[in-house]
Amino acid sequence: MKFALGTTALLAVGASAFAPVKGTSGSAALFSTAASEETYTFTKSEEIFAEAKELMPGGVSSPVRAFKSVGGNPVVFDRVKGAYAWDVDENKYIDYVGTWGPAILGHADDDVLDAVKATMDKGTSFGAPCPLENELAKAVIAAVPSVEMVRFTNSGTEACMGMIRLVRAYTNREKVIKFEGCYHGHADSFLVQAGSGVATLGLPDSPGVPASATKATFCAEYNNLESVKKILEENKDEIAAIILEPVVGNSGFIKPDQEFLQGLRDLATENGALLVFDEVMTGFRVSYGGAQEYFGITPDVTTMGKVIGGGLPVGAYGGRRDIMDLVAPAGPMYQAGTLSGNPLAMTAGIETLKKLSKPGVHKELERKSSKLVDGIVAAAKKHGHAICGDYAGGMFGWYFVDGPVKNFQEASKADGEKFGKWHRMMLERGVYLAPSMYEAGFMSMSHTDEDIEKTIAIADEVLSQL
Ligand SMILES: Cc1ncc(COP(=O)(O)O)c(C=O)c1O
Repeated sequence: MKFALGTTALLAVGASAFAPVKGTSGSAALFSTAASEETYTFTKSEEIFAEAKELMPGGVSSPVRAFKSVGGNPVVFDRVKGAYAWDVDENKYIDYVGTWGPAILGHADDDVLDAVKATMDKGTSFGAPCPLENELAKAVIAAVPSVEMVRFTNSGTEACMGMIRLVRAYTNREKVIKFEGCYHGHADSFLVQAGSGVATLGLPDSPGVPASATKATFCAEYNNLESVKKILEENKDEIAAIILEPVVGNSGFIKPDQEFLQGLRDLATENGALLVFDEVMTGFRVSYGGAQEYFGITPDVTTMGKVIGGGLPVGAYGGRRDIMDLVAPAGPMYQAGTLSGNPLAMTAGIETLKKLSKPGVHKELERKSSKLVDGIVAAAKKHGHAICGDYAGGMFGWYFVDGPVKNFQEASKADGEKFGKWHRMMLERGVYLAPSMYEAGFMSMSHTDEDIEKTIAIADEVLSQL
């Protein structure tokens, strides 16, 4: 059956000029550019996802994968390689999600896989020091301006949990400022509703989060220094840290103004608070040294994840030596992890960073991101859609709204209904985009100019029908 999924009846207007052909791992040809009646079918994905829903909440291990905000069911992946993903029905996609950021080299990079296989022969976890930890630590310290020492964890959430305890321990203060629309993992104290008007009042964002866990978390507006100043004034000498995504990737894609980042640096210093860049997403992605290198602003503490694990579970937090010396067992601030620093994850991170550190890589990532964004924006405008888009290194995004988008409130004005249809139509033509307008897109070293041109051509056709 054609267009087997949820919204598709609505979308099955005319055959795609860029209808996909079935691909195999080795195949270079992705799509037939000749007009064709062929479209994707999702029979096996449907079956597997129906079963998954009986077994796991919402059928997934992490909520956004369920496609709830775009409608229709998710496709179930079978394998990935380079810039591509294949689902269980053998449909091939150009993938701009990249397992939510880690796949910056492209999926399943041969050098990373070979190195991981070699390490695996020695065991998968030691629970004891191993030289690979030193190697990855040295690479991270060399690359990221603010990091003089680092602690590895298993996820970005864990890194942020360690970080918040650390900034509180160091400053002997409890309150923190975060920003509306910024995500720092799913720990209680970060799940603060960012509703307008209550920007200074931390309210629990999820049932099960005790009010006591968020009462010390204050929300400010991104790219708005005045909103930060107000909280600092109302909580004089009580703010432990100002914590932000230095480029937002969890409300779509929002770039900071240079003056905003510089202002935060100054305000933190003046108020005896620490400045924390959560670079779980931006680290090693917008440039090799992260957003702090890209914008030339050095925070006190940095959290990382995604890319530094090269597709295996890794997170990290690091910063100035005098701050990191507080972390156990060097200091009294407790934080631990059974699998932290395990040899497989360290190996994948080391190999990924080796390849990423070569000159020109991030310039090339940014060139490709700009080519994609400029192409999509031009196509949308040609067909009369309101749109704005932006990019930094290997990270990008666009909104169906007249821009510019500077904060979460502005992002939320984008046309969500249009985004849902757009997402499904792109999917059905072989382009895998993040299933939410509040997620950034990710470019990899494996995406070719041809992939990008093909994506823009498909987008042009979709946008002409939206
Ligand atoms: C900026 C940021 N911080 C923290 C996290 C949490 O990382 P993880 O999903 O590895 O727990 C994410 C995840 O997307 C993130 O984007």
